[in-house]
Amino acid sequence: MRSSKQRYTWPLCLVLGVAGAGGAGCSAKDSNDARSGGDEPSADAGLASTLLNAKDVPIDGVTKEMARSFAVGDGRFDLPFREADGLGPLYIRAACSACHDGGGRGPGLVQKMTLVDADGTTPSADQSLLAFGHTLRPLLTAGATTPIAPPPGARVKVTTRLGPPVLGRGYIEAVADSEIERVAAEQQARTDGIHGRINRVTFTSEANTDKSFHAHAKGETNLIGRFGVKGRIATIDDFTADAFQGDMGMTSPMRPVELPNPDGLQDDKRPGVDVPLEYVNDISLYLRLIAIPKRADLDEVGRAAFDTALCSTCHVPSMKTRADYPIALLAGIDAPIYTDLLLHDMGPALADGIADGNAGPADWKTAPLIGLRFEKTFLHDGRAHTIEDAILLHDGEARVSLDRFRALSPADGSALVRFVNAL
Ligand code: HEC
Ligand code: HEC
Repeated sequence: MRSSKQRYTWPLCLVLGVAGAGGAGCSAKDSNDARSGGDEPSADAGLASTLLNAKDVPIDGVTKEMARSFAVGDGRFDLPFREADGLGPLYIRAACSACHDGGGRGPGLVQKMTLVDADGTTPSADQSLLAFGHTLRPLLTAGATTPIAPPPGARVKVTTRLGPPVLGRGYIEAVADSEIERVAAEQQARTDGIHGRINRVTFTSEANTDKSFHAHAKGETNLIGRFGVKGRIATIDDFTADAFQGDMGMTSPMRPVELPNPDGLQDDKRPGVDVPLEYVNDISLYLRLIAIPKRADLDEVGRAAFDTALCSTCHVPSMKTRADYPIALLAGIDAPIYTDLLLHDMGPALADGIADGNAGPADWKTAPLIGLRFEKTFLHDGRAHTIEDAILLHDGEARVSLDRFRALSPADGSALVRFVNAL
């Protein structure tokens, strides 16, 4: 998202100029208006560093029409919805960008709760007291009076999920199923404890009637979950509809029903479905088109240390995409996403106690290492404030990798951190 017009307009202009697709030449200095004429961008150091700092811009080579769709979707991603638009009756934040600012992590977040045993960490066998699920929904509109909150008197552990970065997600959607299955099978054969698993999920939204991307029917099973911190959703449109409904209380044709709430309200101030399918699809196309931020020349010593420490076993540098992915720029390529899209048990300290499909209470999907230099917090709840802290909090299946990281020479260790920070 772009919270100001200026921040939005100029990187788009630069990228289009460089890709030669925009036809709207614009200089780095006069960058506030995409339509202003001016010098062709020159490959000078200023421009190079501007491009390196560009985030939340479309992938290189998009057509003018795609760039326009990108801008429309970006606008809807940023738009704070109001009560009259159908926000609520319960919600967490009013705009996608509140939790994915500039396509990055947070600042908005979702809190989850689990009933736990007397030790304060073991999830209780019976979670039925959480009649409305594990997600806290604190904000109220449209006559609602009761938020979804921890039941009074219950022993509850509350955990946090910051909105994760959404950069480069089109690449992730495009990765071929066979590629993920291949990596999972390779890991099963390992003897060092690294054995990621696929989260096989069911498509629970109504089918998307715009078939250009969306071939899945409601109830279709066995899809590969690749979105969400536990890989619980298979496609970007399904995630968008889910986020509209769950985080914002905005229903759409794919998720037409308000989630159950303690007041028993079935609708909000806007009768019926709150946003048209177009909104879901515009935002989804925007997300599919966001580039992986440009990477400078990567540190070769760091890259080698990344392999030595087995980081690349889970943070797989590159995965092949489907040849028939509808965005041709993303079809049949090596997607440099630095994730295997698999679930890994990361040990008790990171565990939130919540199971989701095949994902167990300590499982997390390998975080894509994309654009980390723009972030100030790391891991699902942002508990790490540096890349090094994030690495040191790896445990469980990643224990072997942590041990190897610790065994690196100080020079190799810093090179590794520099490498990750540049991804
Ligand atoms: C209240 C904060 C919040 C709001 C509002 C929100 N999100 Fe999210 N988003 C999250 C969190 C937290 C996750 C990880 C959640 C999980 O996996 O359970 C997430 C995950 C995602 C993902 C998956 C990213 C990945 O690669 O795993 C996408 C895509 C996404 N959100 C898009 C959206 C869109 C589109 C909207 C608006 C319609 C939106 N979000 C609104 C917090 C939010
Ligand atoms: C067993 C698989 C596995 C291995 C091996 C592994 N990671 Fe991770 N990594 C993960 C998972 C899963 C997460 C997400 C954990 C979370 O959010 O709590 C993660 C998260 C991260 C993050 C935080 C990213 C973000 O967006 O916040 C960084 C940085 C990272 N890993 C770097 C490394 C490095 C460097 C190595 C090698 C020393 C490594 N990882 C080894 C699975 C692995």
